Amino acid sequence: METVVVAIDGPSGTGKSSTSRAVAAKLGLRYLDTGAQYRAITWWMLDNGIDVDDAEAVADAARKPGIVSGTDPSAPTITVDGTDVSGPIRTRQVTSAVSAVSAVPEVRARMVELQRAAAAEGGIVVEGRDIGTTVLPDATVKIFLTASPEARAARRSGELRGKEAVSLEATREALVKRDAADSGRKTSPMAKADDAVEVDTTELTLEQVVECVITLVEEKA
Ligand code: C5P
Repeated sequence: METVVVAIDGPSGTGKSSTSRAVAAKLGLRYLDTGAQYRAITWWMLDNGIDVDDAEAVADAARKPGIVSGTDPSAPTITVDGTDVSGPIRTRQVTSAVSAVSAVPEVRARMVELQRAAAAEGGIVVEGRDIGTTVLPDATVKIFLTASPEARAARRSGELRGKEAVSLEATREALVKRDAADSGRKTSPMAKADDAVEVDTTELTLEQVVECVITLVEEKA
């Protein structure tokens, strides 16, 4: 188990983060949230007044912020130049801008370096969009989580409730738009790896998904 690498990909609202954290905690593995890294660099671009739709400006700045991810599944944190941005990276402004920033090849190259360095020793669950296809093609186990857009929107609204007033329909539209951008970009689009196991979580509880992933890991580890 010390060298195992578990890649969990899929769109948001499929239970990817909750599943990845629970699997890592149960198996005593580290956990890396690559979406949080793309959000962190996006937060930095917005904070520094960089136009996120100007790909050249984003590319020029891609190596400026120092991004450090904590890998404890019970308390994942992320800092930018020493500031904890775990809260600010979840705002609507960052969520709306992140697909544009993460489509820039220079940003991806930088993030992939950080992700491969974190996974080099193994013993980790890495969640994202392109982990099984591009970042860690030799991962021990690859999972691709899916769920219906309705189920995903309902889960995201549940998470946002109390933080922001957003309707279910607006949440659904935003999810579908972000998926289209993430799957349609040129560099390393969101995709299921040929050797990934697809798990449709629409009708499953979190416990069932976690159990299913742990069984797959134990078979291969
Ligand atoms: O997982 P989360 O919803 O926090 O990811 C935020 C965004 O980061 C995604 O919509 C996508 O644009 C980008 N991302 C990516 N590649 C990854 C993980 C996330 O492009 N491996």
